[in-house]
Amino acid sequence: MIEILYLACAVAFIVGLKRLSGPRTARSGNALAAGGMLGAIVITLVDEDIVEWEVVIAGLAVGAALGAVAAVRVQMTAMPQMVAAFNGFGGIASALVAGAVVVETDLLDLSYETGITILLSAFIGTLTFSGSFVAFGKLQGIVTGRPITYPGQQVVNGGLVAGAIALGTWAFVGEEPVAFWSLAGVSLLIGVLTVIPIGGADMPVVISLLNSFSGLAASAAGFVISNNALIIGGALVGSAGLILTKLMTEAMNRSLGDVLFAGFGTADSAGAGGGAAGEDKPVKRATADDAAIALGYAETVLVVPGYGLAVAQAQHAVRKLATALEDRDVEVAYAIHPVAGRMPGHMNVLLAEADVPYEQLLDLDQANPRFPRTDVVLILGANDVVNPSARNDAASPIYGMPILNVDEATTVIVVKRSLSPGFAGIDNPLFYDEGTMMFFADAKDALEQTLAALDNV
Ligand code: TAP
Repeated sequence: MIEILYLACAVAFIVGLKRLSGPRTARSGNALAAGGMLGAIVITLVDEDIVEWEVVIAGLAVGAALGAVAAVRVQMTAMPQMVAAFNGFGGIASALVAGAVVVETDLLDLSYETGITILLSAFIGTLTFSGSFVAFGKLQGIVTGRPITYPGQQVVNGGLVAGAIALGTWAFVGEEPVAFWSLAGVSLLIGVLTVIPIGGADMPVVISLLNSFSGLAASAAGFVISNNALIIGGALVGSAGLILTKLMTEAMNRSLGDVLFAGFGTADSAGAGGGAAGEDKPVKRATADDAAIALGYAETVLVVPGYGLAVAQAQHAVRKLATALEDRDVEVAYAIHPVAGRMPGHMNVLLAEADVPYEQLLDLDQANPRFPRTDVVLILGANDVVNPSARNDAASPIYGMPILNVDEATTVIVVKRSLSPGFAGIDNPLFYDEGTMMFFADAKDALEQTLAALDNV
């Protein structure tokens, strides 16, 4: 009976995960998967007679309250940090399960399989914990976002991994608890030292990878305590995290090795940003009135949101402007690049918050054929995802990355505060194009001013 209930929970995880692949079904998918997890927790606690009913309910109440407060209070731009913290806690929970088994049982009594999975769970779980919290610190600005590198870094990291393997073997062959705890300590260090050389802006990819690791650690912990729900849940997180990591690196046209070892993304585009290479080149400046005229007389407008839209929290302002344009019979849609912003689905989530209709959101493949017949493209805080160098300049670091071909539209209005580069730290030739107007302002201010100016058009 218990196994059948676990299977039902696993089905809830799988169907829930499937439903997360579209914005319409994502909410119910999330609820379904969370329901499956709740079921699995309650079944385990009751079946194993671990605690009394009252304690189960009290624990659920405290957890739900903390989760609800976090969900309401955390800003959308801080979501990657929150996911990092969750991964870290997931990792350490799995490692603690392994530690509890080591404390409770005589290592001599453990089977070969259990021994291996205990070591894996401790190794992956602890490095996920420390690595995730370094990632959290980098994104939160507690630890510097710049890559921290030193000579011989890869050798040190390689040596530590070799040390961890040696300790694992000692713990396994020599049945020495002290070797097990030393392995956990070294793994903590590995987590810290492998994440510090990675630039803050690459953290979302790292977090996605650590997410996958937290799943693997959970799955290993599931084998340790023979819990099928944990094995299946962990495997799903492990594979989903890995697929997401692959999709993110592909959309950035980078390899995972490049993200992990190249110290890329030293400039964070959140504000300071390095000086653009082409600051002395002339650009066509636009005001709110210019933008209002171009937009007000257009038949078709495609909005391209980017990281700056999230920074400015301009999602409601863009929705208001779009509604005003639609009232004037302008056709408005949004072109969403898969890595616009700083986390997967960043723009979709942001626009959904402002109730932008899902059918107006076009992905890269849907949007690109539409640019040649679009009158005005309104770029809001996007930069790299519309950089034509990705198509034309073989020397560019983003060469080969699929981009939104906004330069094929009649008029392009770029809203950003300066000519500073984006995440990739490179100049954007689009800004100097004949058909491009630069509207230098915070995205929210620019949208509000344009909306006001539209009244006079
Ligand atoms: P970016 O290329 O990073 O450009 C963002 C632009 O927003 C900056 O140039 C900045 O210019 C502007 N900006 C910042 N604050 C603003 C504000 N308050 N108002 C208006 N503009 C503002 O963004 P993107 O085009 O969305 O590209 C995303 C980049 O992040 C890609 O290179 C991608 O590979 C990388 N990345 C993405 C992900 C995921 S999963 N989405 C993960 C890791 C890395 P000013 O400073 O001049 O305003």
